Amino acid sequence: MSGVAAQRLRSPQELYAQWERSHWSAHEVDLSRDGADWAALDDGERELLYWVLSSLMVAEERISTQFCGLVLAQDDEEEGSFLSTQLVDEVRHMQFYARYRDQVIADPAAIGEHVARAREVLGAPFRRIFDEALVDAHDRLRRSPGDREAKVDFVTTYHMVIEGTLGLTASHFLLDFLGRRGVLPGFVEGYGLIAADEQRHIAYGTEFLRRAVAERPELGDVVRQRIADLLPAVAEAVSPPGNGAWDLLGVEDGELARFGLDALTRRLKLVGVALR
Ligand SMILES: [Fe+2]
Ligand SMILES: [Fe+2]
Repeated sequence: MSGVAAQRLRSPQELYAQWERSHWSAHEVDLSRDGADWAALDDGERELLYWVLSSLMVAEERISTQFCGLVLAQDDEEEGSFLSTQLVDEVRHMQFYARYRDQVIADPAAIGEHVARAREVLGAPFRRIFDEALVDAHDRLRRSPGDREAKVDFVTTYHMVIEGTLGLTASHFLLDFLGRRGVLPGFVEGYGLIAADEQRHIAYGTEFLRRAVAERPELGDVVRQRIADLLPAVAEAVSPPGNGAWDLLGVEDGELARFGLDALTRRLKLVGVALR
């Protein structure tokens, strides 16, 4: 095992204990300054941020409703304990984005309606990832919780691609921009807390995959294949459809894709799988 791969990863039990020490409430984050900031953004920035917030709204609805199968596929009580906390975390994230739309975008509605409105601005690559790949992988795992390959495929889709590449890239650039700009402090606080939750989720996925691949090396091909299948859609899903572009937020062309691929490659090294 190389130096990187020998690095110790936190176990599900350690991640569970960390969750107990990290509670926060989506309904207590102070959003009182964000409404005025939102109204004062220039049109291009507001349109781009609306698209990002819509992606986040739909993503959290998808990943909180397409998760129970993994809880049922737990190997032991410690893993089940951690996975139950992740399910609650994802629901909290969905609640935060819905509350943000209620109070800041000033568009009060039930969560289902928020999700439907948010979907109107999203493109085909987003649907490919969240409505097809994720749903199919979850259905397969739900039907056969004891199928190792189905579990590896689901965790690759969910924890490596969606959380570890797409989500991590979005939060890195968005928090960086909002920090520099000094606006939307409530969003920055909530999104920062969400990003900290996501670090635990990604840590779980990395540890699980490393264990699974160490036990059955041929499962490395399942990881590689799923990533190769989804990476083109991920690269497209981080760019807004139409004329909007991240350069409005000071991000250079190609920077998102490079950051995402670097993060993914580093994590796969820990798992013990090399992308060809
Ligand atoms: Fe989440
Ligand atoms: Fe997550």
